[in-house]
Amino acid sequence: MSRIVLGVSGGIAAYKACEVLRQLREDGHDVTVVPTENALRFVGETTFAALSGKPVATDVFSGAAAIPHVRLGREADLVLVVPATADLIARQAAGRADDLLTNVLLTATCPVLVCPAMHTEMWLHPATTHNVETLRSRGVVVLDPASGRLAGADSGVGRLPEPAEIVGIAQLLLDGDLSSRASTRDLVGLSVVVSAGGTHEAIDPVRFLGNASSGRMGVEIARAAALRGARVTLVAAHLAVPAPSSVEVHTVVSTADLAIAMESAAADADVVVMAAAPADFTPTSPSLAKVKKSGGLGLTLELSQTTDVLAGLTRTRREGQTIVGFAAETIPDEAALADAGRAKLRSKGADLLVVNDVSDHKVFGMADTIVMIVDAAGVRDRVAASKAVVAHRILDAVVDHRALAT
Ligand code: CTP
Repeated sequence: MSRIVLGVSGGIAAYKACEVLRQLREDGHDVTVVPTENALRFVGETTFAALSGKPVATDVFSGAAAIPHVRLGREADLVLVVPATADLIARQAAGRADDLLTNVLLTATCPVLVCPAMHTEMWLHPATTHNVETLRSRGVVVLDPASGRLAGADSGVGRLPEPAEIVGIAQLLLDGDLSSRASTRDLVGLSVVVSAGGTHEAIDPVRFLGNASSGRMGVEIARAAALRGARVTLVAAHLAVPAPSSVEVHTVVSTADLAIAMESAAADADVVVMAAAPADFTPTSPSLAKVKKSGGLGLTLELSQTTDVLAGLTRTRREGQTIVGFAAETIPDEAALADAGRAKLRSKGADLLVVNDVSDHKVFGMADTIVMIVDAAGVRDRVAASKAVVAHRILDAVVDHRALAT
């Protein structure tokens, strides 16, 4: 159980803070809600009190004997602001302490996660851009808002990311040494392309050959890269999990589609990560009409081998591009798995290969995984952790590889 202060400022997305609060409580955390005065115009104090199971702290002067303005920030394991309005961000950047929430932000020594939501013009205003840069330079993790419907009839960039995404990043920051990684912003200025999910190869208009990939690993890599400041394109084949809100998504169906989408997206990318599970075989002549049962006889499908997308990308790579592949093997023995990883790294021409043993349904769709990260020199890292944590370790390897290559 961690102690979390959930700050809420006065924007229409304040109602989504209730869902964030509910999920954090379900995960067993102790949450104190600190709304600004204007947040209470959107959501009542009673709602926050009922969902948190605690009195709601609103101002510096009530219960002054317990010194809440210092105690709350000092004792917290994480301070989370959902939503953060342009005004709250400006006050935080200026170091003001004119209500309880800004006092908490000034006294917090733990990780701070700020989730902005506002109209597009306010987010893009140079004043807000400057304030966000100031906060990031101080180690505050500021999420980029998503694009989509805003208040009223407007739509554009400025939307609060989905509550589940916010809770996932909050958990990552609570998990320890990654808080510094997430606030490093070491991928600013880089374009990262990630593929994720499993392809579908059509047998006829209603049937396909698929595989067990959920896309979760690739989605976590895309999310981690965006958090660290990269421009991210996610090429998504049938994801079983939602895509991160702050990345550009191209959806594809088959390995042939994936090859075209990756070739085009990789053309000006600095980093390419092939986390997708493309089918290796596709029906040679998919039927245009639904295949009918035929008097108890079986069905024989002729399959042809698909193109190897990763090998194609490494052959045509642009200068300075880092290419990461994955290897899904069914080799439980560690040494043999490492050997297979090194052999595949060479045959694919990738710079880094993330190798895992997928025997016994250990990996597909799971929140956790065990991987080894291999480069030309051998196994450079072994990680057993959540896919969110593994995603950051893969990006650490990318950053180190790029530093050595220059
Ligand atoms: N891959 C690819 N195109 C394919 C098949 C795989 O780009 N048609 C990529 C995967 O995205 C992964 C890497 O190649 O990054 C290795 O995938 P894997 O399934 O482990 O290996 P295969 O190349 O399919 O070889 P094999 O199944 O024979 O071990």
